[in-house]
Amino acid sequence: MVMKTVLGGILVLLLITARAQALSLANPGCEETCGNVTIPFPFGIGASCSANESFIVTCNNSFGPTVPYIRSINLQVLEISLEGTIRVNSPVITSNCSDRRHSTLEMDFSSTPFSFSDTKNQFTATGCNNLALINGQDIETGGCTSYCNSSWRPSTCYGINCCQTRIPSSLKYINVSLRSISPNYGGESCKRAFMVEQDWFTNLTNPFDVQSMENVPVVLDWTANTTCKNFIRRYDYINQYKTVCSCGGGEEGNPYLHGGCQDVDECANPSTNHCVHPNVCVNLQSGYGCFSPDKGSNKARMAIIGMLLSFL
Ligand SMILES: *[C@@H]1O[C@H](CO)[C@@H](O)[C@H](O)[C@H]1NC(C)=O
Ligand SMILES: *[C@@H]1O[C@H](CO)[C@@H](O)[C@H](O)[C@H]1NC(C)=O
Ligand SMILES: *[C@@H]1O[C@H](CO)[C@@H](O)[C@H](O)[C@H]1NC(C)=O
Ligand SMILES: *[C@@H]1O[C@H](CO)[C@@H](O)[C@H](O)[C@H]1NC(C)=O
Ligand SMILES: *[C@@H]1O[C@H](CO)[C@@H](O)[C@H](O)[C@H]1NC(C)=O
Ligand SMILES: *[C@@H]1O[C@H](CO)[C@@H](O)[C@H](O)[C@H]1NC(C)=O
Ligand SMILES: *[C@@H]1O[C@H](CO)[C@@H](O)[C@H](O)[C@H]1NC(C)=O
Ligand SMILES: *[C@@H]1O[C@H](CO)[C@@H](O)[C@H](O)[C@H]1NC(C)=O
Repeated sequence: MVMKTVLGGILVLLLITARAQALSLANPGCEETCGNVTIPFPFGIGASCSANESFIVTCNNSFGPTVPYIRSINLQVLEISLEGTIRVNSPVITSNCSDRRHSTLEMDFSSTPFSFSDTKNQFTATGCNNLALINGQDIETGGCTSYCNSSWRPSTCYGINCCQTRIPSSLKYINVSLRSISPNYGGESCKRAFMVEQDWFTNLTNPFDVQSMENVPVVLDWTANTTCKNFIRRYDYINQYKTVCSCGGGEEGNPYLHGGCQDVDECANPSTNHCVHPNVCVNLQSGYGCFSPDKGSNKARMAIIGMLLSFL
C-alpha cells in the first residue's frame, strides 16, 4: 500500500513535469506570440525565425495594439493554423459611397505559398445595381451582380442588394472592379465588394453590418511541403493535392520542427481518457491504457516501471 502511494506520488510528479515541458511552436530561441496571435514555425518573427521569406511575420504596434503582419503579402494575420490555413484581415472596397473614398482591391500571392481557400471563402458584393467582377491576371475569373430594391432589407444575400459567388480553387491573384449593371437599374448608389470567410459572414445577423467595416476575415491556404519533420498528410481537394505535415497519433506539437511533436498525456485530463475508477490510467507513447489496480496489477506496475525507466 505504501509502495502504491509512493508510486502514485512519483507518477503525479512525472505528469506535472511532462506538462511543464510543453514545447514552443516557434523555432528554438524565437518569440512564439505577437500580440495575442501564436506564430508557429514555418512562420516566424524575423528572417532567422521563419522557414523562408514567404513566412516572415512583422510585429507592428504603429496602430495601437501590437498586431502581426505577413510581410510577403502585406496582410494582418489573425490566426495561423498548422493544418495549412491562416486567417487574414482583407479590405472591403467601395465605390460611390459617401462615407468612404473609392478604393480598389488588387491582391497578388503569386510566388508565395498562399492562395485563397475556395472551400472557406466566398466573393461578396453589396449595394444596388452592382456588377462586381474579379479579374485574374489575363482573364475574368468570376463575379456577381446585385440588383436594387430600396424597400428590401432582409438579412439575406441572394442577388437583391447583396450577392455572393464561390471562387475557383488555387486562386492567387485578384483585381476587383465595381461597375453599374445598367444605368436603368437605379444608378449611382454606393457599392461594396470583398472576399470573406463564409462561416464568419453567415454568423453576422445582418450582411449589411459589413458596411461599417474596413476589413473582414479571409482564409488563405498555405503549404510548405518540403519541410515536414514528421509525417506528411495529403488532402485531395478535387485532385489538387495539398500537403500538410502532421504529428503522429497520440502526439501534439509542431510537425514542422525537429522534435516538435510530443506525446499527449491522455491521463492528465479526464476528458481525454475513458478509464473508470478503480482502474488506473497509464499514458503510453501512442495513446493510453486503463489497468486494473488489483487483479492482474502486474501490468499496471510494469507500465509504471516502464515509464519510470523511460525518464532515466
Ligand atoms: C486579439 O487582439 C485583437 C486586437 O488587439 C482583438 O480585436 C481580438 O479580439 C483579440 N483576440 C482574442 C482571441 O483575444
Ligand atoms: C508598421 O506599419 C507601418 C505602416 O504600414 C510602417 O510604416 C512601419 O514601418 C511598420 N513598423 C514595423 C516595425 O514594421
Ligand atoms: C421590393 O421589395 C418589396 C418588399 O419585399 C416588394 O414588395 C417589392 O415588390 C419589391 N420591388 C420590386 C421592384 O421588385
Ligand atoms: C484592375 O482592374 C481595373 C478594372 O478592370 C483595371 O482598370 C486595372 O488596370 C486593373 N489593375 C491591374 C493592376 O491590372
Ligand atoms: C458613381 O457616381 C458617378 C456620378 O455620381 C457616376 O458617373 C458613376 O457611374 C458612378 N460609378 C459607379 C461605379 O456606380
Ligand atoms: C460561427 O458561429 C459558431 C456558433 O456560434 C461558432 O462556433 C463559430 O466559431 C463561428 N464561426 C466564425 C468563423 O466566427
Ligand atoms: C518558401 O517555401 C514555400 C514552401 O516550401 C514555397 O512555396 C515558397 O515559394 C518559398 N518562398 C521563397 C521566397 O522561397
Ligand atoms: C511539393 O509541391 C509541389 C507543388 O504542389 C510539387 O510539385 C512537389 O512535387 C511537392 N514536393 C514534395 C516533396 O512533395
